Amino acid sequence: MAGEAGEGTKLWGGRFTGATDPIMEGFNASIGFDKRLWAADIQGSQAYARAIEKAGLITGEESTAIIEGLNKVHEEWASGKFELQSGDEDIHTANERRLTELIGEAGRKLHTGRSRNDQVATDTRIWLRDNILVLRDHILDLTSVLVKRAIQEIDILMPGYTHLQRAQPIKWSHWLLSYAWMLKRDLERLDEIRGRVNILPLGSGALAGNPFNVDREFLAKELKFEGVTGNSLDAVSDRDYIMEFLFWGSLLGVHLSRWAEDLILYSTKEFGFVSLSDAYSTGSSLMPQKKNADSLELIRGKSGRLFGNMAGFMMSVKGIPSTYNKDLQEDKEAMFGVFDTLEGILQVAEGTLSTLKIDKVACRSALSPDMLATDLAYYLVRKGIPFRDAHSLSGGCVALAEKKNCLLSELTLADLKTVSPLFEEDVSHVWNYENSVNQYAVYGGTGVDSVTAQASNLTAWLNSAKAKYQNFAAQAKGGGSEA
Ligand code: ARG
Repeated sequence: MAGEAGEGTKLWGGRFTGATDPIMEGFNASIGFDKRLWAADIQGSQAYARAIEKAGLITGEESTAIIEGLNKVHEEWASGKFELQSGDEDIHTANERRLTELIGEAGRKLHTGRSRNDQVATDTRIWLRDNILVLRDHILDLTSVLVKRAIQEIDILMPGYTHLQRAQPIKWSHWLLSYAWMLKRDLERLDEIRGRVNILPLGSGALAGNPFNVDREFLAKELKFEGVTGNSLDAVSDRDYIMEFLFWGSLLGVHLSRWAEDLILYSTKEFGFVSLSDAYSTGSSLMPQKKNADSLELIRGKSGRLFGNMAGFMMSVKGIPSTYNKDLQEDKEAMFGVFDTLEGILQVAEGTLSTLKIDKVACRSALSPDMLATDLAYYLVRKGIPFRDAHSLSGGCVALAEKKNCLLSELTLADLKTVSPLFEEDVSHVWNYENSVNQYAVYGGTGVDSVTAQASNLTAWLNSAKAKYQNFAAQAKGGGSEA
C-alpha cells in the first residue's frame, strides 16, 4: 500500500524519498478542519511579505506580487472556487501552493524565516481574537433580554429554592438577573482572555526565532496585535490561549446549563411557571399532550461537550516536550468545536428566553405561608428576641399549625400567644408576600429597590460593554510587547 502512495508537493519533501502511506496522509492532514483559518492565514502572510520586504529579503515588486496573488487566493476562497489538491496537508500548505501556482517564483520566497509553527500560532490567534467578538455579541444580546424582562416583569413573585425545596418568596426578576450577573462575569473573563490571545507569535520561526531580523513590532501593528510574544520556544508550543478559551467556554456552559435546568423544571406541569414558545419546543411523536423543552435540554446536554473539548485537549498537551509537536494540531478541532457549540447555545438561549411566557398566577400560587416562617422569626427579632430564640419560637408556630392542620397564617393570635406573649395584632402584617420580598432592600437583595438598582447597573454596564469594541479596527492597536 505504502509504495503506491502518490508524491505530493510537501513543503518538507526535500529529504523524503518514500511516499506517505495514504492512511497516514489522511491521519496527518488538518486541512479538513483548519481550512476555516484561510482568511487569517492570508492576512498573516500578507503582513509577513511586507515585513520581509522591509528586511530586504524580497524586492518591492515581489512583495506586491505576493500580496496581490494572495488577494486572488482570498477571492477564490470567498467565492467557493478554491480547489484543494491531494498534497494540501493543511491551510498553510494549500495557500502557499496556490500562491506559487498563480505568481511563480516569488511565491517560493514568502516562507523565508517563517515556519508553519509560528504561522499556525499566528493564524489561530487571529481567528480566535476575531471570533471571540462574535460570541461576545451573543452574550450581550442574551444579557440584554434578561435585563429587559427583569424590568418589565418586576412585579412577579415566585418561590425561591434551596435544595429544590421552597425557601423564601423572591422576585422572578431577581432570578433572571442572577444569570445576568453570571454572564457579565463571563464576558469580563472573555475580554481578559482576548487580551492574552491578541499577542503576536510571528517571528518565532520553527522554535529559535527569526534570523533575518524581521520587525516584529511592525508585524504586530499590521496585524492589529496588542503586543509580541517574549520567547520563541514558548510562542510556538504553548496553547494556553486556546485552553483558557476552552475553560471559559466550559464555565459559560455550566452557567447556561443551570439556567436551562431551572427553566426545564419551571416549564413542567408540576411547576407551571413558564411555557416555551412552539419555536423552541417540540411535541412527542407518541403522546399528543406533551410539549418538550428540547431547546433547553440541548443547551444542558451540549454543555457537556464543551467540557469534553477542554479536558481532551488539555490531556493532549500535558506530556509534550518542548517545543512544537504534532499533538498540538489537536487544538483546532477543540477550539472550533467550542466556538460552534457556544454560538448555537447562546442564540437558542436568547430565542427561548425572549419568547417564553411567564404565568404570573401560577408563580404566585406556588407561594405558601410556611415560606414566611423566617419572617415570623424576624417579627420577634424586631421585638427584641435574639434570632436563635426567635427561630425556635417560629419553629414552634410551624409545629402548632401542623398539629392543628392549618396554614401558618391561619393560627389565631391566641394560638400564637401560646408560643410567645410578644405576638400582637400587628403580626397580621407578616402574611404579605410583597412586604416580605421588599424587606430585602439591601443592595443585592430581592426587594424592589434592589432589583431596580441591579437592573440599572446592569443596563449601564451593557451600554459600556457594547461600546467597547464598536470600532474594533481602531481599538485593536499595534505596538507593545509581552514584557
Ligand atoms: N497543521 C499543523 C498544525 O496545525 C501546522 C504546523 C505544522 N508544523 C510542523 N512542524 N509539522 O499544528
